[in-house]
Amino acid sequence: MGVSISSKGNSGPSKDFKPQMFGLMFAGIESVNSFPSIFMFTEKAVVAAELFKISRECGLDDDGEPVFPVMPMQYFASYQEMMYTQSFPAVVKVGSAHAGYGKMRIHDHHDMEDFRTVLAMTNTYCTAEPFIEGEFDLRIQKIGNHIRAFKRTCMSGDWKTNTGTSIVEELEVTPKYRRWAEEAGKMFGGLDICTVDAIHEASTGKEFILEVNGTSSGLAPDMAAEDNLHIREVVLEKMNQKFVAHAGAAVAEQEPGFFEGAAAGGNRGLAAADGSKPGGDDA
Ligand SMILES: Nc1ncnc2c1ncn2[C@@H]1O[C@H](COP(=O)(O)OP(=O)(O)O)[C@@H](O)[C@H]1O
Ligand SMILES: [Mg+2]
Repeated sequence: MGVSISSKGNSGPSKDFKPQMFGLMFAGIESVNSFPSIFMFTEKAVVAAELFKISRECGLDDDGEPVFPVMPMQYFASYQEMMYTQSFPAVVKVGSAHAGYGKMRIHDHHDMEDFRTVLAMTNTYCTAEPFIEGEFDLRIQKIGNHIRAFKRTCMSGDWKTNTGTSIVEELEVTPKYRRWAEEAGKMFGGLDICTVDAIHEASTGKEFILEVNGTSSGLAPDMAAEDNLHIREVVLEKMNQKFVAHAGAAVAEQEPGFFEGAAAGGNRGLAAADGSKPGGDDA
């Protein structure tokens, strides 16, 4: 059975569907993406770790720029370890929240100290990174082998383009964006569905990858009908691989046993099959 499931069960302020997911895993249900990858996606810090790994492996392009340019973030296991050493303004991101939750812009080290005392009231980690004055956000979406690119421009002046009013336009999938999607598709042993979110800096035109989402990505409303068909293809393909291909393999495995000895004993296998006396060593 194929299942497509949101990986951010624990994402909002108070929802956690991980126990339901564990039930499906326990029962051996197959999924798109794999359940182990969905489990990893429930922790933003673990996702960031995987992004840094990909970035290291991809290295630099001919211009000396990172092929997979992940935003330089710092990780703090708790408020006690918070010692931010990058530039201000900064952005802090608390725990594994998504959809804009748990993120604050920090103008200077005084704000950061205030934030640190608020983090002390929680039981979780945070990351911090430089604030980028973005011209627009980018989203590269991969569903199976089908890749799209979007840009999201904020119209309401909110620094988080996913919480304010914004317009979404489709962009050409350049080789650079295709590579991002393909590299992200290797995360956690392989992803059928993922989106790479990046920000395009207004002053320099540089692009920084902020995060990768799995099956919780959501579809652009205008393309949702078509993309749902791509998801359907991915699910069918996976079901074929798991069940139909597996059934074929099972038959193939039996065959050598059935004709066992045919190579050594001439028509022995056939003789055994039709019930006549074999003409080999046993005759
Ligand atoms: N370092 C940053 N500089 C400027 N804007 C940022 C930065 N990080 C995030 N944002 C904005 O906030 C939005 C939400 O941040 P993101 O890291 O994608 O978390 P979420 O999981 O909540 O979507 C992004 O889409 C982007 O518009
Ligand atoms: Mg995001």
